[in-house]
Amino acid sequence: MPVALVTGANRGLGLETVRQLLERGYDVHATYRTDAGGLELIDSDRLSTHQADVRDMTALQGVMRAVGDRLDVLFNNAGVSDGRWASIEEVDFDVVSEVLEINAISPVRVTQLALPLLQKSGFGKVVMISSLMASIDDCASGKSYAYRASKTALNMFTVAMKNELVEQNISLLIVHPGWVETDMGGPRAPVQAVDSVRGILERLEEQTLAMSGRFVEYTGRPLPW
Ligand SMILES: NC(=O)c1ccc[n+]([C@@H]2O[C@H](COP(=O)([O-])OP(=O)(O)OC[C@H]3O[C@@H](n4cnc5c(N)ncnc54)[C@H](OP(=O)(O)O)[C@@H]3O)[C@@H](O)[C@H]2O)c1
Repeated sequence: MPVALVTGANRGLGLETVRQLLERGYDVHATYRTDAGGLELIDSDRLSTHQADVRDMTALQGVMRAVGDRLDVLFNNAGVSDGRWASIEEVDFDVVSEVLEINAISPVRVTQLALPLLQKSGFGKVVMISSLMASIDDCASGKSYAYRASKTALNMFTVAMKNELVEQNISLLIVHPGWVETDMGGPRAPVQAVDSVRGILERLEEQTLAMSGRFVEYTGRPLPW
């Protein structure tokens, strides 16, 4: 059985990722910050749930011990939106720091802790759930300061670690899930989580070492940096 770990899996895209990985025969480890939420409704002996804030090194070390000695796929999914400030004068820097910590730094922390387990896979894969809002080329409308900057930083962290990880047979996929109807995406979003995750898992299956560091939409469309 392939083994996967999904962060922020109690609702939204993370929860749907857990469901589809179980359907595909994975053993799934799912983390949640405070409330197990939708994970409690899944009845599968291949699902293990763990409480961990992605900023909490000690909790994450416990998760890695529970996963065991091998991990095939890591989904860095947990993320937050920002203050949607109307103007630069209104930006709250405490919120900026929190968004950068959760969206940009924490996926690197989780990946660092998972490396020994991913190495044991023989061909480990890491999925970074990024966003088109990371794209500097696509930033015509501006605003969403902290969210955009956090995902751009996540993309750069990922590309910067690519060479080292490819030497360890670990491939990195940076993916924009689309504008998806979740708590974050809101009710007007045109893409359903089930379709977004199906696409992301197709991208995961086709992912090779040579593709490591690519930035694509869930459909496979390459995105501008
Ligand atoms: N929906 C979209 O349109 C869209 C578009 C582009 C990218 N994305 C990205 O897709 C990912 C999933 O988003 P979503 O739409 O599913 O959002 P969501 O419904 O708001 O879910 C976010 C998840 O992340 C978890 N999380 C947040 N901060 C955390 C922390 N410090 N530690 C652990 N878990 C934490 C949340 O846990 P709690 O329940 O405890 O808050 C929740 O489970 C995010 O990285 C987001 O940036 C989404």
